Amino acid sequence: MKLIDQLDLRGKRVFIRVDFNVPLRDGRVSDATRIDAALPTIRFALDHGARVVLGSHLGRPKGRVDPKLSLRPVCEVLAERLGTPVRMAPDCIGPAVDDLVNDLKPGEVVLLENLRFHLEEEKNDESFARALARLADVYVNDAFGTAHRAHASTAGMTRFVAERAAGFLLQRECEYLGKVLSAPERPLLAILGGAKVSDKIQVIRSLLERVDALLIGGAMAYTFLRARGRQTGRSLVEEDQIPLAGELLRAAETRNVPLVLPTDHVVADRAAADSPSTTVQGDIPADKIGLDVGPATVAVFRQHIATARTIFWNGPVGMFELEPFAAGTMAIATALAESSALTIIGGGDSVAAVMRSGKAKAISHISTGGGASLEFLEGASLPGLVALETV
Ligand code: 3PG
Repeated sequence: MKLIDQLDLRGKRVFIRVDFNVPLRDGRVSDATRIDAALPTIRFALDHGARVVLGSHLGRPKGRVDPKLSLRPVCEVLAERLGTPVRMAPDCIGPAVDDLVNDLKPGEVVLLENLRFHLEEEKNDESFARALARLADVYVNDAFGTAHRAHASTAGMTRFVAERAAGFLLQRECEYLGKVLSAPERPLLAILGGAKVSDKIQVIRSLLERVDALLIGGAMAYTFLRARGRQTGRSLVEEDQIPLAGELLRAAETRNVPLVLPTDHVVADRAAADSPSTTVQGDIPADKIGLDVGPATVAVFRQHIATARTIFWNGPVGMFELEPFAAGTMAIATALAESSALTIIGGGDSVAAVMRSGKAKAISHISTGGGASLEFLEGASLPGLVALETV
């Protein structure tokens, strides 16, 4: 892969695929992390005299124009962050957009409207890809969060642009996540949480071949506990995944990799902040729901974290969005922040948790990709990265 700083950008129309799929609240950007993460690449292009065209998706509008998913709120934040006007395009292709882009002067920037307002984006339609490519002399991909999608803007259009390169964010993501896959400093520890085992099967398989220990928390732990013959009360369990969880437990045993499950649980009658909670050891009573790992489990997890040299974490270990069930996840975030190991947090809720803990700065790398970081660690080749390979 070439990097953006290896190309001559002066006076060229530089199409940068960014991932501005950010959360919105009341029509405003409620978390600008992904916008901030793309700024170094955008600034670099502007400083080097590029005429910058930014393309992104927002949400899943399924090919329909949905004003609630317009990138306009992003445009405002971006202009503020860059300290320069950002023109908002009325669409992402078409004659009006062609004119807007062709009128750009070096150091100016335009943000295209949501690429997914056209179904052809997700279909990786060739004529749509060609229409996007007509806006570009140079193609740069900095959208790591979308690198696992083979869409027109992440994969298809690259064939029709003479020069292509990775942006700084994409490079940084590959570098850090790559450290988990190849020659990590050991012990290598992975902590996985979240609701569903079914979302994480491939990554668990892949990690079991690499890690020195795997800690599992969150609702997915209850499916594993059932596979070990434990009682989990009314906790969330994917019944159809119990045999597979059993298979993964056996695979860990065969490989001699400790797969550590919670031994105590914070339980309640309902998954609600006002439902009184207690801590139980071992089996969960028939009428209770497990909603967080208990203090004994946290202590064991902390011991593993303290001795590891490389740590990857994805997924909260409890329902941390509700205060009474946040302690486990907050303890993991704190332990990672205090660790001197290389610490990598992969996407989604665990990122929100570490932000909430106020410890984000102490983490070596916080990935902007949820699904993308997991697929990367599965060892899958990501279409967005493959499309940048120089042959
Ligand atoms: C994400 O938020 O994970 C990326 O922007 C990809 O979005 P998608 O899952 O809708 O393709």
